Amino acid sequence: MQFDTIVRGGNVVTPTGTSKTDIGIVGEKIAAIGPDLNGSPGAKIIDASGHHVIPGVLDVHVHLELPFCGTTSSDDYRSGTRAGARGGVTTLIDFAIPYAGDSLNDAADNWMKKAEGKAMIDYTFHICITRWNEHKDQIKGMVDRGFTTFKEFMIYKSEGWQSDDKALFGTLEKMKEYGTMLLVHCESADVLDELISRYHTPELMKQHGATLHAITRPNFVEAEAIQRVIMWSEATGGQLYIVHMSTKEGADIVKAAQKRGVPVVAETCAQYLVLDDSKFEGEDGHLFACCPQIKKPDDIDRLWKGLKDGEVSVVSTDTCTFTREQKAMWEGDWTKIPMGMPGLETLMPVVYTHGVLKKRISLEDMVSKLCTTPAKVMGLYPRKGAIEVGADADLAIIHPTLSHCVDCATMETNADWSPYQGWNLAGFSRTTISRGDVIVDDYAVVGREGRGQWLPRTRAGLQSA
Ligand code: URP
Ligand code: ZN
Ligand code: ZN
Repeated sequence: MQFDTIVRGGNVVTPTGTSKTDIGIVGEKIAAIGPDLNGSPGAKIIDASGHHVIPGVLDVHVHLELPFCGTTSSDDYRSGTRAGARGGVTTLIDFAIPYAGDSLNDAADNWMKKAEGKAMIDYTFHICITRWNEHKDQIKGMVDRGFTTFKEFMIYKSEGWQSDDKALFGTLEKMKEYGTMLLVHCESADVLDELISRYHTPELMKQHGATLHAITRPNFVEAEAIQRVIMWSEATGGQLYIVHMSTKEGADIVKAAQKRGVPVVAETCAQYLVLDDSKFEGEDGHLFACCPQIKKPDDIDRLWKGLKDGEVSVVSTDTCTFTREQKAMWEGDWTKIPMGMPGLETLMPVVYTHGVLKKRISLEDMVSKLCTTPAKVMGLYPRKGAIEVGADADLAIIHPTLSHCVDCATMETNADWSPYQGWNLAGFSRTTISRGDVIVDDYAVVGREGRGQWLPRTRAGLQSA
């Protein structure tokens, strides 16, 4: 067979094992996998010896150019997908959110426009249902258009995004009917609002500063909401995906539900695996505000255990980048901090360095949580998340130990700070290949902006994988 590219001699990692082999690429696809692929004069040879070769990472929870908290998140499809490429991410899923009188179709169109001409990697969107009465009859049309994952928020009334139990229940019924999946941001709105109002005094704000972000969101705020929506999933049979789970209680509840056969999948994010709420105490503490917030060391330990044991299936980033200037909008009032962090560029380096190298999870587990399982859950497997003949030639090649010091000044993100500033992280992508194109070479982004493609889907959820 005549290959266009041969990735030569790397340790090819899949969730089920690692072996030293070559990968032959024809056009956009993996065409052969085997030792010593030869006989292709003119083929581009990429030397992967001494490196791990993994499927391109999927970051299935990203907010680029999101109007939120009175401003707009500052990574767009240009900077965000360049950042992803540098971290070995070849697919991202963003959230198309309807504003004002928008229909679900309008929301998808708006997000398509943000991506077109800018995205370097492939992408699609979860469709957010923000006004149940208007949107409920539009869901089937979106499935027919190629969107199979939907999203509801249990908080964010002031953004106009909040869903009540009627909407959650009704959407899960529809997910069951269409074989699709509902993603839910789980926090208990009424209790959270009550706790915020109790602490929202000038004296307490002066005394506690940004730590009030954590004080007003105790773990039960997340846990009760997870418990409740799992009940609706159990009752309807609708597939449920808990986004950005941050608590040990959440992990216990999900584990128990999965044991009962509830079709629930849980995601956590890189920040919940390595940062704790002591970060709020520093001068720059407000920079670390994201929603839900980073928790305690025992939550961190429980989430790593959940990844190892299986109840936590996916690691994403919830990238929602705000610059120092945007974060400064808080002016001492934690309820005004734009909530979110940069993350695409550091997802794999954080999980590789603090998970694999610290032996909390295996290399194969990392590939499962960053590549194969997200692709399956989001209805993109085996096109994405697989090193198999016929799959898209999306690959990340990483050195087993070589580390880089994180410095926001040299990163692709538009953020002028990093939650990991000064950390030495291994696992940046030496070479990223997206549908056969080299888009990162020798750790530098070389791909063409606008080459990324929208990914239509026909299914979602582990039940349909
Ligand atoms: O802080 C965050 N996570 N910002 C984005 C909105 C959300 O809830 O995912
Ligand atoms: Zn959220
Ligand atoms: Zn989010």
